Amino acid sequence: MKCCTIIPAGGIGKRFGSDIPKQFAEINSIPVLIHTLRIFEDIDDVEAIVLSVHNEWFTYTKELLKKYDIKKVAEIVIGGVQRQDSVRHALKTKTVESAEIVLVHDAVRPFVSKKLVQSIIDTAEEAGAVIPAVMPKETIKERSHKGMVVKTIDRSKLCLVQTPQGYWQDIIQNAYTQAAKVNFSGTDSASLVEFIGYKITIIDGEDTNIKITDPLDLKIGKMILDDIS
Ligand code: C5P
Repeated sequence: MKCCTIIPAGGIGKRFGSDIPKQFAEINSIPVLIHTLRIFEDIDDVEAIVLSVHNEWFTYTKELLKKYDIKKVAEIVIGGVQRQDSVRHALKTKTVESAEIVLVHDAVRPFVSKKLVQSIIDTAEEAGAVIPAVMPKETIKERSHKGMVVKTIDRSKLCLVQTPQGYWQDIIQNAYTQAAKVNFSGTDSASLVEFIGYKITIIDGEDTNIKITDPLDLKIGKMILDDIS
């Protein structure tokens, strides 16, 4: 198989302040997770999707896939305590093991364009590891625990990293295996690929490819969705 996408959807949304994890919140009456899955359903190079979900949301997720006629989800695994664990569980599936290229995309980024996903696949094919990122617009400062400014950081050297991230299968498998051996953790897959010393290409991300993190993002998300659809 050319390409499969892991979608970690195993978070329980502590920052979201609701009983419903943010991937199941609705925008225009459709769950965020379904918006996300529909993007990958429509990309021919993505032949299968592996979802990681919390065990309490497993049955509900299966019902949603049926209701919205999502066809490419080949396997659903139970997520872990951290996002990294949820991705690691998905990496052990037969579906991922048979893919040349593995994408990892947050369930809570429902507005990524198909063009960006395709660019990630094409660049991953050549380079082995690729991530999308945007430049910071604000001034960035390091702060102390007491809320005081330590220093101003040169923002021209920084970027804000998004998903989907794309890797040759052997690279991402190796990164997660090596990280697990020494309990190294990171907030994205690229941190683990950096950890094994592989060079990662950066391509332009999209301002509209936001991560739904708090209730305000749902309102912003509705505006983005109404604009792009
Ligand atoms: O919490 P955060 O915003 O970093 O979550 C990013 C993605 O990782 C979300 O789609 C969330 O559901 C997923 N996640 C997961 N397993 C966890 C924590 C987060 O699959 N234990």
